Amino acid sequence: MKLLVTGGAGFIGTNFIRYWLHHYPDDAIVNLDLLTYAGDLSSLTDIATHYPERYKFAQGDILDSTFVENVLKEERPETIVNFAAESHNSRAILNPRRFFETNVMGTQVLLDAAQKYDVQRFHHISTCEVYGELPLDSPNRFSEDAPYRPQTPYNASKAAADHLVNAYFHSFGTPITISNCANNYGPYQHPEKLIPLFTTNAIRDLPLTLYRSSHNRREWLHVDDHCAAIAAVLKHGKIGETYNVGSGVEKSIEEISDFILDVLNKPQTLKTYVPDRPGHDCRYFLDSEKIARDVGWKPAIAFEEGMRETIQWYVENQEWWQTIQQKADSEMVQEDKWEKFTAR
Ligand SMILES: NC(=O)c1ccc[n+]([C@@H]2O[C@H](COP(=O)([O-])OP(=O)(O)OC[C@H]3O[C@@H](n4cnc5c(N)ncnc54)[C@H](O)[C@@H]3O)[C@@H](O)[C@H]2O)c1
Repeated sequence: MKLLVTGGAGFIGTNFIRYWLHHYPDDAIVNLDLLTYAGDLSSLTDIATHYPERYKFAQGDILDSTFVENVLKEERPETIVNFAAESHNSRAILNPRRFFETNVMGTQVLLDAAQKYDVQRFHHISTCEVYGELPLDSPNRFSEDAPYRPQTPYNASKAAADHLVNAYFHSFGTPITISNCANNYGPYQHPEKLIPLFTTNAIRDLPLTLYRSSHNRREWLHVDDHCAAIAAVLKHGKIGETYNVGSGVEKSIEEISDFILDVLNKPQTLKTYVPDRPGHDCRYFLDSEKIARDVGWKPAIAFEEGMRETIQWYVENQEWWQTIQQKADSEMVQEDKWEKFTAR
């Protein structure tokens, strides 16, 4: 089978390509990525070297229908896995428009091209954040039937894309599946995201900037478990269905920072409290029974073990994240400046 992976130079896409080529030796992947600040081919150097016949890269924008159609015409993939997105909530507060262009209109371009070139499966990667937030003390979880209540521009753009993907299934019979995943952690994540940001700051004895609502919780899943879930949905999922992908492991931002400081043997005094980002959701928690029951996927990586390995990966791969950080330096979001922003 040949897959077209969009956004394959980003965090999850990189890990997915590595996972798939390793587990499915008869398959080939074309990675279509614009290489925005978030995409970096250095994450795939080993893949390009080890699999020259099974891995190809095509640089371009999912908003460019001519480019996308040309890739599909030439490569004729059976499956598309759409990771390409603007993915950082903080950046969506500063520039919402770009999120709607890429995440919604880009997905629409891909769906049209998938129809035209008879793609057998369009799998769309989405997030738990489309369901909105849960109160900290709620016994509830979000199932696939929960109403969409996005509260940030990033979440709203992902929610809109999910509706669009479902609409193509109902209106045109496009063979889609969607997975809505909890927060991922693992190697090759951009150093602007929470766990790499805290880890790389702690390594350099720089402050860990926690939003004041540091008791807010997230559900954490190792990226390899996410990749296994996508593989399970591609192999055993039902066309037209949405699957939640969660670990059941919740940790507050405070607990995450404490864990990182503890593993790196750094002092608590590195923790610095800053104003919350606008729209900072309290809590997301998924009910992931459906994917376990219907598709047979369950997470395999224990949180403590996965986190220790991840932190160690950032310790051992400082050149990777330092280069990315230098490239993005002038564009890094200043997470301690939200008060000024909301007062505007
Ligand atoms: N990271 C998480 O915890 C998480 C959780 C749930 C869902 N998701 C979803 O998973 C997907 C991947 O997330 P990630 O964390 O790997 O994101 P990322 O920001 O690390 O990577 C995004 C990739 O998309 C590429 N891209 C951006 N705009 C593009 C365009 N117009 N055309 C082509 N390529 C473009 C970037 O260059 C980058 O390589 C996203 O759709 C995101 O919403 C992420």
